[in-house]
Amino acid sequence: MRKNNLICLGIESTAHTFGCGIIDSKGKIYANVTDAYTTEKGGIHPTEAKKHHENVKDKVIQKALNIANLKLKDIDMVSFSQGPGIAPCLLVGMRKAKELSKEINVPLVGVNHCIAHLEIGKLMTKAKDPVLLYASGANTQVIAYDGGKYRVFGETLDQGVGNFIDHFARYIGLGFPGGPKIEKIALNGSKYIELPYVVKGMDVSFSGILTNLKQKFDSGKFSKEDLAHSLQETIFAMLVEVSERAMAHCGKEELVLGGGVACNKRLQEMCRIMCRERGAKFFVPPNEVLVDNGLMIGWLGILQQNKKEKDIDIHPYERTDDIVVEWER
Ligand code: ATP
Ligand code: FE2
Repeated sequence: MRKNNLICLGIESTAHTFGCGIIDSKGKIYANVTDAYTTEKGGIHPTEAKKHHENVKDKVIQKALNIANLKLKDIDMVSFSQGPGIAPCLLVGMRKAKELSKEINVPLVGVNHCIAHLEIGKLMTKAKDPVLLYASGANTQVIAYDGGKYRVFGETLDQGVGNFIDHFARYIGLGFPGGPKIEKIALNGSKYIELPYVVKGMDVSFSGILTNLKQKFDSGKFSKEDLAHSLQETIFAMLVEVSERAMAHCGKEELVLGGGVACNKRLQEMCRIMCRERGAKFFVPPNEVLVDNGLMIGWLGILQQNKKEKDIDIHPYERTDDIVVEWER
């Protein structure tokens, strides 16, 4: 007999983080456990990240079940991040998800990581039809629902905003992850140093700004604090500009944030001001679902519970608009 309230166990493993979340059809959250691979140097090494995920996967899942006070047999379905992401990392999550679903004989669903950020944002903030500014390590996209699909209205033409910040932070000796460290020292910077502002149509680009920042740092004429402050003011203005244009173009009146960089209070403040000025609503989900997590994968699994798949596989290069939205939004 089919239950009307399913409990889904979601597995995330696209990049640094191995995560397991447990959530039901009503949106009740039972657990959300993550374990992230970090390195002093910061750059992600696929084989090392895969090893990390192999090492922590059973522990993370068991911890989530313990927190949820559930046994594996209480789980009604399993979902996992199918892509986009790093193939060796994705494989760890998919294999574990397959193993679990076989063991307890429940359905298995593969879901898109970027759309999961958007759907968990909607669930947690009660936004109805938002534009998502998804700003993480590897990804920088402005996404909204339009004509039956989630579409990317603007994105980075080179690296993700988080990787760009981490790169500069490492260059000036702040270590990894750089985002929170740049945010902290930027509070002590007051002088705005002009930097290139690179918005091309609806897209953004960071590599020229990175070169410029490195040259300015090497010249010895500017303090780290002023450079951090100017970096934030410039690149966040770029992100806010493309988000606002997407809202205007799609006629949407809500903005939701996603991705680790969205933990940044100055970015949140700039988005809040933009939304207030155009009479739109602004939502920031809690930090634990801004960063990569299994809960959002579990929730999108619930939404896509009727998805029919012939072959369960990973899709490292999957695009947001490859997905046909067949679930109720
Ligand atoms: P993906 O790109 O696949 O979503 P990821 O592991 O690269 O995954 P997240 O977990 O979403 O990304 O976020 C990590 C990034 O967020 C890092 O680049 C980190 O520096 C950045 N970050 C975290 N906190 C802050 C902050 N307060 N300000 C700016 N950046 C931050
Ligand atoms: Fe992510």
